Amino acid sequence: MRREVELQEVDWTAFPKPSEEMQSSWLLQHSPKPKKKTVRKRTCAWTLAFIGVVIAFSMTVRALTHRHHYQQQAPGAYNMALHTGLKFFNSQRSGRLPDQNNITWRGDSCIQDGKYPGSSHPNLSGGYYDGGDAIKSNFKMSFAMTMLSWSVIEYHAKYQQLGELSHVEGIIKWGTDYFLKTFDSSAADSIHDMVSQVGSEGTERYCWMRPEDIDYERKVHICISECPNLAAEMAAALASASIVFSENDAYSQKLIQGAKILYRFAESSIKGSGRSARSSWDELLWGGVWLYYATGDATYLDRVTTLALADPSDSFSRDSGVFSWNTKLAGAQLLLTRMRLFLSPGYPAEEVLRKFHNQISIVMCSYLPSFNKFNRTKGGLIQLNNGDPQPLQYAANAAFLAALYGDYLEASDTRGWSCGPNVYFTNVLRDFSRSQVDYILGKNPENISYVVGYGERYPKHVHHRGASIPKNRKESCKGGWKWRESSKENPNVIEGAMVAGPDGHDVFHDVRTANYTEPTLTGNAGLVAALVALSGEKHMLDKNRMFSGVPPLFPDVPPPPAPWTP
Ligand SMILES: *[C@@H]1O[C@H](CO)[C@@H](O)[C@H](O)[C@H]1NC(C)=O
Ligand SMILES: *[C@@H]1O[C@H](CO)[C@@H](O)[C@H](O)[C@H]1NC(C)=O
Ligand SMILES: *[C@@H]1O[C@H](CO)[C@@H](O)[C@H](O)[C@H]1NC(C)=O
Ligand SMILES: *[C@@H]1O[C@H](CO)[C@@H](O)[C@H](O)[C@H]1NC(C)=O
Ligand SMILES: *[C@@H]1O[C@H](CO)[C@@H](O)[C@H](O)[C@H]1NC(C)=O
Repeated sequence: MRREVELQEVDWTAFPKPSEEMQSSWLLQHSPKPKKKTVRKRTCAWTLAFIGVVIAFSMTVRALTHRHHYQQQAPGAYNMALHTGLKFFNSQRSGRLPDQNNITWRGDSCIQDGKYPGSSHPNLSGGYYDGGDAIKSNFKMSFAMTMLSWSVIEYHAKYQQLGELSHVEGIIKWGTDYFLKTFDSSAADSIHDMVSQVGSEGTERYCWMRPEDIDYERKVHICISECPNLAAEMAAALASASIVFSENDAYSQKLIQGAKILYRFAESSIKGSGRSARSSWDELLWGGVWLYYATGDATYLDRVTTLALADPSDSFSRDSGVFSWNTKLAGAQLLLTRMRLFLSPGYPAEEVLRKFHNQISIVMCSYLPSFNKFNRTKGGLIQLNNGDPQPLQYAANAAFLAALYGDYLEASDTRGWSCGPNVYFTNVLRDFSRSQVDYILGKNPENISYVVGYGERYPKHVHHRGASIPKNRKESCKGGWKWRESSKENPNVIEGAMVAGPDGHDVFHDVRTANYTEPTLTGNAGLVAALVALSGEKHMLDKNRMFSGVPPLFPDVPPPPAPWTP
């Protein structure tokens, strides 16, 4: 830690260095000349001046090498894609649809969910289908809603400028209204169980009919103590949405209340089972940070700190940097870093915040092509899920984190960050983010946009029950198979859907198999978040909205004067 202190002495906080134990060998791989020792030298004026010159030079070199490296999409492209991408959520709505859902081929569906004799959750109408079948998965749905809420909290003004604010808020509320039905959200103290999913993989993938025509009974999956990760993720979804809806006090309080109950349920599930918290560790961190921001209750920050310092040995493993519906660590790291950059709370939180700040810096380095931490296709798509199907949603999430981190750094007057001995400007983060989003939008070897309805060419055989069968065409479970097997284009265009994407060699087949053409709720949420981060003007980040529930950290400072009223 000595080195950290020295860095502070020379006021290098502007370029936070990863601490030594966090240094990974790959960070040194492609550095021109490791200058590791220079920072260790005594801080005499000469050394300082020398370091200054070296860093300035190194930054100039980086800036120059990146300046013309990347050409961006036509202005307005991200806005267009954002308008389109949001429509997907309207297509995935389950239950009784609102008056103007705006998807001509969708109608009410599965309004009987949960309704059977002896049901403990008799009204599970609502929510969203996750992908091309008709499963409603709370785990994936809640990650998708958390991502949307996060993007609204950060980029409220951009959504407003684009005329999409009430649309996206309506999308989030459709999800949170449903979550509140899936557990006893008015419980005074603790809950006994919660719904985890409606519909089973077997049936939902075997039958192929429009969700509107489903006539079989859909299984409600309940979990009692085996789902701390789900409970914590749903706590994150409700807590983040409570910040989105902070102006609607009654609803916001209801969401917070639900989030607290779920978080307690997650913690007691772990205690009760005597299992290690390992598999739910990242969700507990993520949910805890969101609850802290939503409530300002310092005990959540304490819990997060305790968890973070307990750091299971594999927490910063090969997968770190992969942010998805199944791994939240990088998201939690970035959220906590936000607090360090903007609020500098100091002792006692500083130790854990610095640790997370270091880790997220390294995650950002790992996205840069020069470090070869992750493979890339020839076309430039980062491979964050080991070449398995559905690479795009992982790339979109990484694109969001990188663009957002860049905005955090700029909003805190920090112009770059370091990767081992090299310093990079924030524009490198945007370049990475754009490169992935542009790939998704059509700048790829197949010359195809992977977002339906966007661009000149896009997939026409989307793996989706509702989109692949004509409206008013009632099919039985197996009767609908012919639509799935058909080589014809879908009769309904599922606008905004980001499909699973190409294989590990940039090759895409526009056929109705899940590996290539199935869209997902989580994928679209990451895409929308990345698009809003890249759209419009820089510096439109909302620094304060996230902290609206957090009490002033320095109570001695007088509050700002009350707004003048005539
Ligand atoms: C449908 O479109 C109309 C007109 O743009 C809009 O007012 C309404 O909110 C939309 N409905 C949904 C559910 O997004
Ligand atoms: C179920 O909940 C929805 C709101 O999500 C409501 O409109 C509907 O009336 C409820 N159904 C029953 C049978 O209570
Ligand atoms: C990268 O690709 C190589 C060759 O296909 C493979 O052996 C390796 O496991 C991949 N690495 C990662 C991190 O996916
Ligand atoms: C994509 O476009 C480029 C340049 O316009 C062309 O060289 C290439 O053959 C196209 N690829 C496909 C798969 O159509
Ligand atoms: C889809 O992915 C699974 C799992 O990786 C694989 O076993 C299967 O062969 C793939 N199918 C197609 C059509 O590529």
